[in-house]
Amino acid sequence: MTVAKQSVQTPFEEKLCAIVGDAGIVAAEDEKASYEVDWLGKWKGRGSFIVRPDTTQALAQVMRLCNETRTPVVPQGGNTGMSGGATPDESGAQVILSTTRLRSIREVDPLNNTITVEAGVLLAHVQEQADRANRFFPLSLGSEGSCTIGGNLATNAGGIAVLRYGNMRELALGLEVVLPDGRIWNGLRGLRKDNTGYDLRDLFIGSEGTLGIITAAVLKLFPKPTARATAWVGCAELGKLVQLLARVRDTCGDRLVAFEMLTGQSLRLILDQIADVRDPLDQPHAFHALIEVADTRDDGLSALLEGCLERAVADGLIDDAAIASSLAHRQAFWKIREGISPAQVRAGKVVKHDIALPVSVIPRFVDAAESAIRSVMPQVHVINFGHLGDGNLHFNVLLPKDVSTGDAAAATVLLNRVVHDLVVENGGSISAEHGIGQLRRDELRHYKSAVEFDLMMTLKQSIDRNQIMNPGKLI
Ligand code: FAD
Ligand code: MLT
Ligand code: ZN
Repeated sequence: MTVAKQSVQTPFEEKLCAIVGDAGIVAAEDEKASYEVDWLGKWKGRGSFIVRPDTTQALAQVMRLCNETRTPVVPQGGNTGMSGGATPDESGAQVILSTTRLRSIREVDPLNNTITVEAGVLLAHVQEQADRANRFFPLSLGSEGSCTIGGNLATNAGGIAVLRYGNMRELALGLEVVLPDGRIWNGLRGLRKDNTGYDLRDLFIGSEGTLGIITAAVLKLFPKPTARATAWVGCAELGKLVQLLARVRDTCGDRLVAFEMLTGQSLRLILDQIADVRDPLDQPHAFHALIEVADTRDDGLSALLEGCLERAVADGLIDDAAIASSLAHRQAFWKIREGISPAQVRAGKVVKHDIALPVSVIPRFVDAAESAIRSVMPQVHVINFGHLGDGNLHFNVLLPKDVSTGDAAAATVLLNRVVHDLVVENGGSISAEHGIGQLRRDELRHYKSAVEFDLMMTLKQSIDRNQIMNPGKLI
């Protein structure tokens, strides 16, 4: 480990050390590097200091100091974000404020069905703690072993169970937030009903570190599902999968937890890369769905799903289906789904589009977008997968292997415009769950209406008067 050379401390540094101590500042150069680049290696910057307070009070003092000295602050949790929101710029003037030492579970209340946790607690740890209390915390992402609750709230994360439980916004009851000027807002209320004015909680959720730092949250817990049935389906047309979604919903109601889609091409990418993964069905199909239903008691859940899928095959809606016959079988299905994200990264340069559309519009949109892409760039491949049940597609485009950096940048601009114009024309959103960060900041300005953008600016300016919170991100 290389330790940074000792130099004379500036007054700012002295004050910072007095607040968080040596243990609260990351000094080793090799350790610093991991905070200054995002996990994709796409955004790199330089922090003036990387600060890790271990209490809300210390974090509030750091914010007060930064506000007084007009020092810009970049909040960071697990650094797994997809939009470059947690990476500083290259000026070397921004403080990276990491929440990773805010790791306490403050309270588990099984009767109120709530858990109160600090922002740096890993999502997987919250799931485990809920499980220990015989409860269930449903947010589930491929990054759950590394992402933090603060990051989940700041990005309003989605994942694979939104269909049944909602996204992070719907899973939070109360927040504790340190404001840009260092004041602490204690909104840690575990209430399902609270009509006392503007919803400040919802303002901070999804604000991507531009309004304040979330330091703790009261989250909803649910009864633990003990019965599950999981199916893998193959089908020739996306429109038929959308019809199947409606049918499974009619049949299984609230028990439908996940309805994930991947194209045959996305599946191929994984099969080509991972030796111990095999196609769950005997024949290749143009589209696949991974469907999961769950309940707190097993009253023939598997038979219910099986019956629904048998009828769908008989009616020509789908071509084939397999129901997981064991836990290992179920895990094998999910391994495929979770393998797509890393598989596309390994495959080469990918232009990502995390889009939301009304589910009913998706088949028409996909046809139009694929032909628009073909007409401007015939040599690329669409890697389309995602949370079809939520109307959220990861409509990504794989560029040719030998593409130069300059050509990739130009292709990215063109593809974004082609895809996002169509998304907006079809009543959709250019960011479903990954947020805006640096990735979509300029596009946000292009696609948001003047009124909406103006309201966002008004809020930003009135809460962050000195414009120190995560500059260059979101807005
Ligand atoms: P970071 O990346 O550290 O930060 C993200 C943003 O939040 C930044 O703008 C940062 O400034 C801000 N921030 C972080 N903590 C705080 C805080 N305490 N207060 C205020 N602002 C804060 N996302 C999904 O929604 N659905 C998925 O299915 C999904 N799958 C993924 C799969 C993989 C393999 C990976 C690597 C990522 C995936 N993600 C997914 C993206 C990512 O995991 C989420 O966006 C996650 O919520 C980010 O949490 P984090 O702690 O890593 O935040
Ligand atoms: C997913 O659903 O797997 C993620 O959001 C990751 C991705 O888009 O790569
Ligand atoms: Zn996703």
